[in-house]
Amino acid sequence: MKISVIGCGYLGAVHASAMAELGHEVVGIDIDEAKIAALSAGRTPFFEPGLPEVLTSALATGRLRFSTDIADAEGAEVHFIAVGTPQKKGSHAADLRYVDAAVETLLPHLNADDLVVGKSTVPVGTAARLAAVIDASGSGATLAWNPEFLREGFAVQDTIAPDRLVYGVPAGPAGERAVAQLNSVYASAMATQTPLVVTDYATAELVKVAANAFLATKISFINAMAEIAEVSGADVTQLADAIGFDARIGRRFLNAGVGFGGGCLPKDIRAFTARAEELGRGESVAFLKEVDAINLRRRQRVVDLTVSALDRPVHTAKVAVLGLSFKPHSDDVRDSPALDVAVQLRGLGADVVATDPQAIENSRSRHPQLSYSPDIEGALRGADAVVLVTEWPDFKSIDPEWAAGLVNTRTIIDGRNTLNSAAWRAAGWTYYGMGRP
Ligand code: UDX
Repeated sequence: MKISVIGCGYLGAVHASAMAELGHEVVGIDIDEAKIAALSAGRTPFFEPGLPEVLTSALATGRLRFSTDIADAEGAEVHFIAVGTPQKKGSHAADLRYVDAAVETLLPHLNADDLVVGKSTVPVGTAARLAAVIDASGSGATLAWNPEFLREGFAVQDTIAPDRLVYGVPAGPAGERAVAQLNSVYASAMATQTPLVVTDYATAELVKVAANAFLATKISFINAMAEIAEVSGADVTQLADAIGFDARIGRRFLNAGVGFGGGCLPKDIRAFTARAEELGRGESVAFLKEVDAINLRRRQRVVDLTVSALDRPVHTAKVAVLGLSFKPHSDDVRDSPALDVAVQLRGLGADVVATDPQAIENSRSRHPQLSYSPDIEGALRGADAVVLVTEWPDFKSIDPEWAAGLVNTRTIIDGRNTLNSAAWRAAGWTYYGMGRP
């Protein structure tokens, strides 16, 4: 199939490459000339495991190209809208200006029977509004909503082999044709019996925000238990194991620590709350404000724990911060708890030296006041405390005996409960976990 992907940020660049990998003829379109030049040359503007390989192999087949001209979308049968929906300035609501602009600029290039497919995360009601805009244009094109559930770090695999597909389509023959077109796009997933939910626009839009709200709630639930464990002497990691054996609960996403961050979970729960309030049902998701508050308290907890664990005033201490990205296998520092902790400690006057396998450049451009070390050794040398805030494998495998020889004081705060506490204690370290004695 001929496919266009409008928006070549994180979502769009991965989607365009993956669609070409599946055998489609794809044009990726973005207004950012530097981004299009990089992608055309086979360079990804961000770190995502597996993406450079898929991008370069798709470019080599000639099935994938990039352009800054929306007119190049003409002739494609399916047009994916994959632009960002950031948080509005001064508000928690989603900023839809890029989605609106993408649809507006695409309209003159649509032909009858074309399918426009929304992938961006939007407030419920957006698809119905955009469908009316497309209908009014008289092009004969149809809109479908097909939310994306990819996780950073696993984006290529999640796009090529998703764990489910959701199509929000209009009723009637246009909807039936949209389902058939999307089934052709995802023929390989169809062949492997990927679960498919065909539904209306509103449900499709809500599936995405509901999924992220549930995941955020699960993490904040276990972090709330960590807070109780901290005042009662219980161990939240054992608690999570024990409740996780209940198949109705499940162990995944029950890792207590410094909390969630990134470009999706924090923004999506805030935008969902704002949209529910607009719809007069703010009380239905008022608990998400608590989910957000618990999450932000965990960052503060790591900072407070570090300050109290130091054997000297914080403004005279050197603190090594291990991790800057919001999670491992990513260079993304958007709303990163790790970077937030580093900045807060610096704000208290500590001499913070942070390291991360991928996220130093993104952190430095946002926070030049921090010191960065390209390697773990440079961060640890002379430290009065070590704070682990992103569970990269490189950090998990640090030998505590080796690290002991570098630091000034053997104090470690494990903000992700990821280290072998017994091994660190055996090497003479004072170990602090999250929600653990
Ligand atoms: C998330 C959703 O998982 C994905 O389906 C959606 O499409 C986009 O948002 P992502 O933001 O890539 O994906 O990261 P995810 O793996 O969900 O982690 C989110 C945050 O939660 C990270 O900061 C992670 O460290 C944190 N987390 C995750 C925990 O603190 N504890 C856990 O048990 C799991």
